[in-house]
Amino acid sequence: MKDRAAKGIGKVNLAVGLVMLVISYLIIIASMVMMIVINDPHGWQQYFHESAFRFLSACICVMLLFAILFYYYYFEDKAFIAKGKNVFLIYLVLIIAVLVCYFFGRFVSIYLRPVAMLALIGLFLFGRRQAIILNFVFSLLMFVIDTFTNNFDSSPNSVYISLMLSFACGTFAVFVAANVKTRWELLLTGVFLGIPGLAIVLLLELSELDFAHFDWIPYVASAGYGILGCVLSAMLALCILPVFEMAFNRLTVFRLRELTSANAPLLQRLRSEAPGTFNHSLIVAQLAETCAIAISENAELARAAAYYHDVGKLKQPECFTENQTGYNVHDELTPELSADIIRSHAQDGYDLLIANHLPKEIADVAREHHGTLPIKFFYDKANRLSGGDANIRNYSYLGPKPTTKVAAIIMIADASEAATRAIKDRSPVTVERIVRSVIEERMDLDQFSDCNITMRELTIIKQTLVDSLTGVHHHRIKYPAIRFNRAHQAVKEESKGDE
Ligand SMILES: [Fe+2]
Ligand SMILES: [Fe+2]
Repeated sequence: MKDRAAKGIGKVNLAVGLVMLVISYLIIIASMVMMIVINDPHGWQQYFHESAFRFLSACICVMLLFAILFYYYYFEDKAFIAKGKNVFLIYLVLIIAVLVCYFFGRFVSIYLRPVAMLALIGLFLFGRRQAIILNFVFSLLMFVIDTFTNNFDSSPNSVYISLMLSFACGTFAVFVAANVKTRWELLLTGVFLGIPGLAIVLLLELSELDFAHFDWIPYVASAGYGILGCVLSAMLALCILPVFEMAFNRLTVFRLRELTSANAPLLQRLRSEAPGTFNHSLIVAQLAETCAIAISENAELARAAAYYHDVGKLKQPECFTENQTGYNVHDELTPELSADIIRSHAQDGYDLLIANHLPKEIADVAREHHGTLPIKFFYDKANRLSGGDANIRNYSYLGPKPTTKVAAIIMIADASEAATRAIKDRSPVTVERIVRSVIEERMDLDQFSDCNITMRELTIIKQTLVDSLTGVHHHRIKYPAIRFNRAHQAVKEESKGDE
């Protein structure tokens, strides 16, 4: 995803993004009108009659905030807003957060507003930096709407309280929840968020303390609402996130975890129908995750994408070496047909993953993990049979080449795992030589030209793979194989080699 950020947005995409911006803007203006009507069911006509300019000011302020958010993405992440649905998603999340906070503030208590909900949803849907800017815009947007639509006519100070709560709790939420991996941990985060929530509520309440007519009940109630509002933020984020995950096919750490669980349907199929491929994928996933961590890429995505990178082999599992037990179907096929079967697993995997509604980022890796590399074994066989007339294009994967660093990692980890699987000497020197040749061969064949992976990152990946592969294939100590009979007496001793 980051790799594509450098590319331009294109006029058509920009126009679509702007249309989405205008649609979202009209929705928020309609929401503001609705708030004014709800706030004063009998006098809202009078509001528009007397305060038309006030409402116009609110509309202009909201337009400015929407535009600031759009410009942020235009300069910081063009690739993201190149898709119109992403633009709509950003503003939709924002509008939902505004409406939820409005209703809680209006009908229960200003302190019960789930002010950190947007920051949490933004964090898991878009990442930390985007969550911070979204929360910043949300806090100001809520402030403008509260001010101009008379949400707290009876208590004007509430507007500032709301601004403080949104900004502080939202920003705190982004950092507290940054390393959350499960939905249960997210719920616990809500409790932690109660700390700044409670502190702000108490400070604001104490600043207006009237010692002459002190009544502790409202203070305790406000403090309780403050904590509850933060817990509510986490609970609502938990409820809303799956809707966005499915509706917009967005990746979150929770969804990635679910996709790599033992219950994931495609993985269950892979385990029962292609056990060799399944085991290979498990090792590649472990390697890819370690490499992603080493170069600060998305480790959860790398792990999930590696699990699914070879699901295309489900179409004809017996045609792939790791699933064969003696009989090799390719002995009876022409090299051209064999190569065609082998290379089609990349596209078949992509099609299968898209058909099963898996995230496109994972499907892309399945299609890209062999890039445009030649299938050397069958190209060589064809050359031997034809006397050197084989066309390499007929014996090469169709691509595309890796477009992300995660796809590049999986391409290298996949080939390194396959190349080291069969060797007996797994010393660091030998493994290093093999992994280096895997990377150099792919560089020679220009496989990394569509992703912005650097030489430094390739060196780190190489070293990480060497460390991991020598660990994965470590030598076991020799031990005697002793068979016992039912009386627990050793009946035979023989020396057995490494396993
Ligand atoms: Fe593959
Ligand atoms: Fe593979």
